[in-house]
Amino acid sequence: MPPKPFEFNSSLDLRESLETAQALRAIASGQPTAFDFSNIRFVGPFGMVYLSTCIEDTVKRLGPGNAFAKGHEKQNYLAHMGFFRAFGLPHGNLPGQATCNSRYVPITDLDALEIRKESAQSGEPIGALLEEKAQQVAAVLSQQVGGDFHDTLAFAIREILRNAVEHSHSLVVRYCAQYWPSLNRVEVAILDHGRGIQSSLSQNPFIECTSDREAINHSLMPGVSGTAFKGSKINRKDIWGNSGYGLYMTSRICRLGGDFFIGSHSSGLRLSSSPQKKEKEYLPFGFDGTALRLTIRPSEAANLQSRLKQFSLEGAKAAAQIRGTVLKASTASQMLTSDFEEGLK
Ligand SMILES: Nc1ncnc2c1ncn2[C@@H]1O[C@H](COP(=O)(O)OP(=O)(O)O)[C@@H](O)[C@H]1O
Ligand SMILES: [Mg+2]
Repeated sequence: MPPKPFEFNSSLDLRESLETAQALRAIASGQPTAFDFSNIRFVGPFGMVYLSTCIEDTVKRLGPGNAFAKGHEKQNYLAHMGFFRAFGLPHGNLPGQATCNSRYVPITDLDALEIRKESAQSGEPIGALLEEKAQQVAAVLSQQVGGDFHDTLAFAIREILRNAVEHSHSLVVRYCAQYWPSLNRVEVAILDHGRGIQSSLSQNPFIECTSDREAINHSLMPGVSGTAFKGSKINRKDIWGNSGYGLYMTSRICRLGGDFFIGSHSSGLRLSSSPQKKEKEYLPFGFDGTALRLTIRPSEAANLQSRLKQFSLEGAKAAAQIRGTVLKASTASQMLTSDFEEGLK
């Protein structure tokens, strides 16, 4: 049986990456397939991490000897970023091998298991261990150490890396990032192959969620956490403890002119800031894990401290209404919408 061709689109931004992943999932197991990379002209960091992982999963599902590649030899940029090696095609750099430059961080795999072990052995919190990593990525992208742009990126990257290492149970966390100064835009993508938001949030007895979509909505609300809730054993004095504000704060930062996407298992949600576009939109997603795309507008990343303070005050006000009560889906969605609308004023 000749292999069936699978052609990749020329542009692989968020939407096209999600659609391509769906098409990859539709390939039958054991079907010989020829992946054709010739048409690709643009892949953003999200496409880099999400598609490389989805291709990796597909290749495993097809079984040995059933995956073929063409058109990759001319894709120098993808090869440099570690795209092909990320799913086992021996061409170009390995993930993490290219040196970062002032505009991008190539596909990088973080050994999440090792970080959890190191934290358990040394007593150093995972957040503290990841702080340095997040600072490094932020410094590469912003070409600054300190300053609001750098600190905003470091804060957001650290919170999302932490979530993947602390909550997902995934062995590896994959990320990639790029800064386009002329577009006033930074994109950071972080993905894990873990248990997903719904499974992790189900540890909180005050939250009822019966779908991935509901779970994502809940997870974005201030004060909602799978590990920190009324009666849970958490040390409230621990500055690195969970408090359910990571996704809330990060999404608020992104919505200052950028946008925020989170996908977990069967559901994806995009929150944007542009009045021309839909501000809250569900997108197709299907992946054994959680993937986020943070888009940040550097020109809006000013006065981080006062912004964070403002967000957390607004968040605390909203959280006071939801903490310790059993959350129903409708409450969750309404809170989220009104909360974000308030943030947009
Ligand atoms: N990558 C992930 N995998 C699984 N669950 C996650 C992930 N990211 C977030 N979550 C869930 O969403 C909840 C809210 O995350 P967050 O707002 O950062 O709060 P916190 O981490 O302080 O609990 C987490 O407690 C966890 O249950
Ligand atoms: Mg968190």
